[in-house]
Amino acid sequence: MQNTRNVTDSIVWVGANDRRIALFENLFPVEKGVSYNSYLILDEKTAVMDTADSAVTLQFLENVKGALNGRELDYIVVNHMEPDHCANIETLMNLYPSSKVVGNGKTFKFIEQFYDMNLEGRKIEVKEGDVLDLGRHKLQFVFAPMVHWPEVMMAYEQTEKILFSADAFGSFGAVDALFNDEQKDAFADLGEMRRYFSNIVGKYGPQVQGVLKKAAGLEITQICPLHGQIWRKDLDQVLAVHDKWSRYEAEEKAVAIFYGSMYGDTAEAAEMLAGMLAEAGVKNTVVYDVSSTHVSYLISEIFRCSHIVLAAPTYNNGLYPAMLNLLEDMKALNLQNRNISIIENGSWAPQAGKIMREKLEGLKGMEILGQTVTIKSALKADTVEALREMSREIAESLKG
Ligand code: FEO
Repeated sequence: MQNTRNVTDSIVWVGANDRRIALFENLFPVEKGVSYNSYLILDEKTAVMDTADSAVTLQFLENVKGALNGRELDYIVVNHMEPDHCANIETLMNLYPSSKVVGNGKTFKFIEQFYDMNLEGRKIEVKEGDVLDLGRHKLQFVFAPMVHWPEVMMAYEQTEKILFSADAFGSFGAVDALFNDEQKDAFADLGEMRRYFSNIVGKYGPQVQGVLKKAAGLEITQICPLHGQIWRKDLDQVLAVHDKWSRYEAEEKAVAIFYGSMYGDTAEAAEMLAGMLAEAGVKNTVVYDVSSTHVSYLISEIFRCSHIVLAAPTYNNGLYPAMLNLLEDMKALNLQNRNISIIENGSWAPQAGKIMREKLEGLKGMEILGQTVTIKSALKADTVEALREMSREIAESLKG
């Protein structure tokens, strides 16, 4: 059965939710599922913008067919060629034999790589700034390379002033209310939006900055991303958080403590430091076990917090693997500009602190506060005092 929503009188959301998916990209836990958004414009010509993942093909096709209401489909616009959005291009081409596929040079290269479609006579290649005339609606293409793949482009509908933003401004989570003004608090799921941003496009901050500059030159009434809710109020706030994240600027002055611990001794140090920070007047410190928390949540917290504490034991004369994984991910995602404190543990040859410092030196703008606190197996009076000193340093730095 068709299950669509009207974005405007002549633009229809024809996407679908997937609440069965466990791991997005077979990598990121999505407890609340994910939405695959697709949009159909009904004008003198009809155009669908991106398709959907194969998991929701049936619902997507029913939506397109229902919204077309017997009309032909003229254009299949491919803003992003990642399979979660392009799995149904060929099916649409077969169902609507006069339709043409609209993309850029890189889009068509990826189509050839992923699929064996016959695009002869069915291809329209566009360049930055080109306009696809549908009648009253006119789609202007705004290229957004590496947000999140190189072929990505956005489409700005000039008449109703709607930005179809591809992966930009998206979120994890199926949509309960499609439009952000249908929720009491449109930012209630900011954590999932941040986790999506930081892990999916976090690496490409400068490219996101480029998109924000282009967006600043457009009058926008609604932002329609490929995942998550449609933004039709508080657009300034949405743009502002993305500006902050893509500049690698912390969302707030706050502390996140990440620990790895085999037998509980390093964990005890992390918990004790959290208490000392609270006693020093620091509010809302959060503590995570890196072994039991998916790294995507940790990355999201690093995007949020100005101050990070890394606490880990030495392992095989190296660094505890779960902490190593976090540091590798921080590098892969281009994380920058945080204040870091380090706690290491080692029973006979502590190495963890040295390795964490070396890894952090490879990242831009990471300031290491004070001395590494070294625990020899378990906390003793001198290490407790060193933790107290660390809490003072962090509290002082937070005031700066
Ligand atoms: Fe949801 Fe980069 O695709």
